[in-house]
Amino acid sequence: MIGDKKVLFSGMQATGNLTLGNYLGALQNWVKLSDEYECFYSVVDLHSITVRQDPAELRSRARKLLTLYIAAGLDPEKNCIYYQSHVSGHCELAWILNCFTYMGELNRMTQFKDKSAKHADNINAGLFTYPVLMAADILLYQADVVPVGKDQLQHLEITRDIAQRFNAIYGDVFTIPEPYLGKSGAKIMSLQDPAKKMSKSDENVNASIYLMDDPDTIMRKFKRAVTDSEGCVRYSESQPGIMNLMDIYSACTGKSAAEIEKEFDGKGYGDFKMAVGESVVSVLKPLQDRFEDLQKDKAYIDGIIKNNAEKAEYYSLKTLRKVQKKVGFPERIR
Ligand code: TRP
Repeated sequence: MIGDKKVLFSGMQATGNLTLGNYLGALQNWVKLSDEYECFYSVVDLHSITVRQDPAELRSRARKLLTLYIAAGLDPEKNCIYYQSHVSGHCELAWILNCFTYMGELNRMTQFKDKSAKHADNINAGLFTYPVLMAADILLYQADVVPVGKDQLQHLEITRDIAQRFNAIYGDVFTIPEPYLGKSGAKIMSLQDPAKKMSKSDENVNASIYLMDDPDTIMRKFKRAVTDSEGCVRYSESQPGIMNLMDIYSACTGKSAAEIEKEFDGKGYGDFKMAVGESVVSVLKPLQDRFEDLQKDKAYIDGIIKNNAEKAEYYSLKTLRKVQKKVGFPERIR
């Protein structure tokens, strides 16, 4: 707890161009939750270097992502929006937690298996201990809730295991975090293959709507979206493409599946796709405009980066000092 609020932690990597899926599935939820919780939203650049990055590119993307958090509606005066690499406690706690995590546990992580298959020439130790750093992120702020996608649930599970193990030895040091999975719109699928998640790393550019896509591009991608031959707008497992478009439309307009079915009763897919495209444009255009304005205001963003790193550091040190004492490190002499 911070004051009378529960703590929320989440983070995103600044790799690849963020998609509509990242916005509707994550960022939009973050904004909704930001009044209720004391929130820490990190740009997790330490995680990014588990795969090789171009330094200038990483720096620029990280800044854009941080700016995007604000453009999406997170108030940086209330929410702690910061770079993970600016707060050294993440690494320090990760080291300690590494010593409370078993090789066998990490070996079971599906993301590690996937990523090491994908980057077979660079299976580094950081990639292996990635979940421990993630545990440190969360536990450092005594987070109660962690909004994550389904693909990160396993990492949250190991975070809880590590925290419980540590607490069992040293007493109640860490808050045990709960995952928070958003409701509808939580999982936006590829526009070209509705069996696959919309991904920022998809090779087919038509599969994903990028947050910075201009209106024409957005409309074109929706026109090309894969549907089916049933020809009716209905929320049914047998029509995964249409279901996905309905999820997107619902997330952008707030309409329910039943309302959408009624709205497009007797109409063709062409009309429906146009409406979905327009609803997405109406959500993304203001976000893009805010982003452009914010990006121009260097001094403002710099101020946010500085103040929030200090705020994050303050809270992180509370946990870190306690942990260091518990494990038996000598006290600092002042
Ligand atoms: N691993 C997460 C992802 O790729 C990002 C992340 C890092 C994270 N640390 C976190 C998410 C802590 C939630 C909490 O999506």
